Amino acid sequence: MTARPNFVWGASTSAFQIEGAAHLDGRADSIWDVYLRAPGRVSHGDTAEVACDHYHRYAEDVALMRELGLDAYRFSIAWPRVLPHGRGAVNETGLAFYDRLIDALLAAEIEPWLCLYHWDLPQALESLGGWQNRDIAGWFADYTALVARRYGDRVKRFATFNEPCVFTLFGYGLGWHAPGVADEAALHKAIHHVNLSHGRAVDVLRKDVIGASIGAIHNRQPCYPCTAHPADAAAALRLAAYWNDAFPFPQAFASYPPEIEEAIAPYIAPGDLADIARPVDWFGLNHYSPHYVKADTNLIGASFGPAPDSVPRSAIGWPVVPDAFRETLMDIHRRFRLPIYVLENGTAADDAIDAAGHIQDEDRIRYLRAYTAAMEQAIVAGADVRGYFVWSLLDNFEWGAGYSQRFGIVYVDHGTLRRIPKASAQWYAEKIAAKRTNDPARPHNGRKIEG
Ligand code: FCB
Repeated sequence: MTARPNFVWGASTSAFQIEGAAHLDGRADSIWDVYLRAPGRVSHGDTAEVACDHYHRYAEDVALMRELGLDAYRFSIAWPRVLPHGRGAVNETGLAFYDRLIDALLAAEIEPWLCLYHWDLPQALESLGGWQNRDIAGWFADYTALVARRYGDRVKRFATFNEPCVFTLFGYGLGWHAPGVADEAALHKAIHHVNLSHGRAVDVLRKDVIGASIGAIHNRQPCYPCTAHPADAAAALRLAAYWNDAFPFPQAFASYPPEIEEAIAPYIAPGDLADIARPVDWFGLNHYSPHYVKADTNLIGASFGPAPDSVPRSAIGWPVVPDAFRETLMDIHRRFRLPIYVLENGTAADDAIDAAGHIQDEDRIRYLRAYTAAMEQAIVAGADVRGYFVWSLLDNFEWGAGYSQRFGIVYVDHGTLRRIPKASAQWYAEKIAAKRTNDPARPHNGRKIEG
């Protein structure tokens, strides 16, 4: 790739998946804490009580990021850590944790990218209906104001939501994620209220943070029909409406995709669409694989089918199709005309420590090499991609899969909590360092990773 001045190389994590300290220092339950308590919802009965213990080991983690030569680090705030009841009384001890994290990042010359919501709604708000309750737009705006005023002197990059399609569809439509609701009306209300909350948060951030750079983080991936059957083709269009368009369309164009417009209409009040479509500064993309879709009798009439046998897959069966990533970047570029930041991309692999104490994760390196090459092709073809964040910095708590799936470029021994950079961490550090030598806007500062 011809070097892009100021291209941002980073890594992403989320609060629930790494922090631990789930019930320390005033943090209250999130919907995920509660959801996971019911039997059978997580592999091996894992819990996120300790996770990577990042709450206590953040300084070591920031030092690792610095060794990698990262420009930026994307994390999320745990809403129930700073506002245990979701609204009202503030938890100063919780707020102070993010002060320490942000200050450590800045001292290491790593730009903090703050995501307001990565799925861990305070349970206290779920008890009031959660995303199904229209009042949540006000609760979310108040939470955003708290975060903006506290950290906006040091943080300028803000994302409103991470993957709203996943937590609404899986959490309120299909019942596979917290809070475990499976109901058509719940799903459609949640979609609209998340969109409203996004618009309100953008307004708050613009007002309260001087120089804020704001976006939302969306999944987008091609939805291919599993077979040539017309029913599968129709199902693929329906899934694409929920998965790819239900949030970016109203946020960018003030309208819902035609496939779901009628279902959402009962919840739209006059003025809502204008309130949702507030101008943002960039499009955040999370992308791993394309979907292969088949018709189903579930409430969206579509489900995830198998990829054709010819498609390579990762250790956890996710299709590996770098061309679909390039196609997605070009599609976003054409439709939304915004700078794009890839805020999640990566793969789970069967990582094991070898006799020398190393993790030779060749599969992950192959994946990252192919996907970053696809991104570079999209840039050459004109897509305005300005940054790439690998998912994830650390092996972490992968929702319903618990600790059974490892996505990190740094291995975490979940018994001792020791961190060991994998071969992919070294590969990533070298890639960043090499790009930087070609980047007229930055000095070369790549470092050798120890461990
Ligand atoms: C994304 C989520 C992230 C992680 C990765 C593997 O859907 O945003 O938290 O689970 O997938």
